[in-house]
Amino acid sequence: MTLTLEKSEKLLKRNELLIPGGLASLNRRADPCISFASGQGGRIKDYDGNEYIDYHFGFAPYILGHNDRDVNDAVKRSLESGLSNFGSGTTEEEGELAALFLKCLPAADKVQFLNTGSEATAQAIRVARAATGKSHIIKIQGSYNGHHNMVATNLITSAEALGGSQMKGDEYPKVPITAGTPLEELNLIHVVDYNDLEAVEVVVRRHSIAALLMEPVLQNIGVIKPEAGYLEGLRKLADEYGFLLIFDEVKTGFRAGLGGYQGVSGICPDLSTFGKAIANGYPISALAGRHEYMDLVISEDPAKRVLSAGTYNCHPVPVTAAIACLRKLMDPKLDVYGHLERLGARLQAGQEKLFQAHGIQAVISRQGSASCVYFAEKAPRNWWELLHSHDFDFDTIYRKTLIQNGVYHFPVATKQGSICCAHTEADIDESLEATDKTLGMLKK
Ligand SMILES: Cc1ncc(COP(=O)(O)O)c(C=O)c1O
Repeated sequence: MTLTLEKSEKLLKRNELLIPGGLASLNRRADPCISFASGQGGRIKDYDGNEYIDYHFGFAPYILGHNDRDVNDAVKRSLESGLSNFGSGTTEEEGELAALFLKCLPAADKVQFLNTGSEATAQAIRVARAATGKSHIIKIQGSYNGHHNMVATNLITSAEALGGSQMKGDEYPKVPITAGTPLEELNLIHVVDYNDLEAVEVVVRRHSIAALLMEPVLQNIGVIKPEAGYLEGLRKLADEYGFLLIFDEVKTGFRAGLGGYQGVSGICPDLSTFGKAIANGYPISALAGRHEYMDLVISEDPAKRVLSAGTYNCHPVPVTAAIACLRKLMDPKLDVYGHLERLGARLQAGQEKLFQAHGIQAVISRQGSASCVYFAEKAPRNWWELLHSHDFDFDTIYRKTLIQNGVYHFPVATKQGSICCAHTEADIDESLEATDKTLGMLKK
């Protein structure tokens, strides 16, 4: 069977004449470049009428599923209530959202809402620099923390660009993922391997480090988890050397659990950033943390005062969506995280059985509802191991064939798959049947 994607292709061609690359975020461009016309719960339909069980979810925000009725109803009510983005004074809703949000995050005293994950990580870095009076930042190889200059380096980096060898106990060369970053800014970033405590200590001794900004679980190159003692070790180093530990929970926040990965691991960062699942796909993000850092936006000392500004911060539509979403995530009767864990375990067990039956070397790395299949002997500990063990070509063809069989994973190797709350056991079983068929097709 070959999918008909005529309308998707036509649409892309037309938009290419108007928009560079044809679409608003070129991260969304892959082969095949399918454009979707509608989504409901765990399923999406493209412009040609093909239906898929979705595991991509727009890079993961839709924890409740597409077009969740309760969230959308709340948004509709707010649109009819006279609320607007007045740009003057505070609102009842932003206070209500802040209270709900902070209830989920015991390590945070205060929260500032912004619009995107990138804004949140940029603000986190500013706050860390203001708090410490230092300028240098450590990031992790293979971590994505936003599109701005302060972090847009070293994501899917080739071995050659990294200097040809793994940098154990030290930093990698900087490899920006965007043109237009001044060298002066790049010089303030230091990139180390995940799960390498020694590298952090070496870099901290060498430079004046304001913060280590990291995804606590690397979820932009699949799902790479911290080894026992790693996050604890980072916490200790931060306290010893006086830099801030910032967890970028834009992906893990409200997905790994109600309290993000800091709730799962029990490690308290000084600051953390959130986005994606907060509002089930509506655009809102957050920076949260200890009051001594968060309150720098109101510091009496102008030299320490961090700018807090944004025309669209706390626009009523995403705020209303976030309140409705968090209420659902917090509702014990719905048992959202229990449901997601059960489905995640069912999918993983089914996949493991199928890969074994088809004689394909694969390992599944999973954190609750987020998972990734690595075509390797064991789950990687960092980007370097992933680069040298994973079969990227097979991963890509596997994804493309799954799409042919009605299961949508983003067709780029190592992209994390997500389960949503609207998925059912029947959806998982149907996906496993499609996986079985896919593996059968790839063997031929
Ligand atoms: C961990 C992480 N941080 C930050 C961002 C940036 O978020 P946004 O795309 O909303 O700017 C992303 C986006 O995928 C992310 O995964």
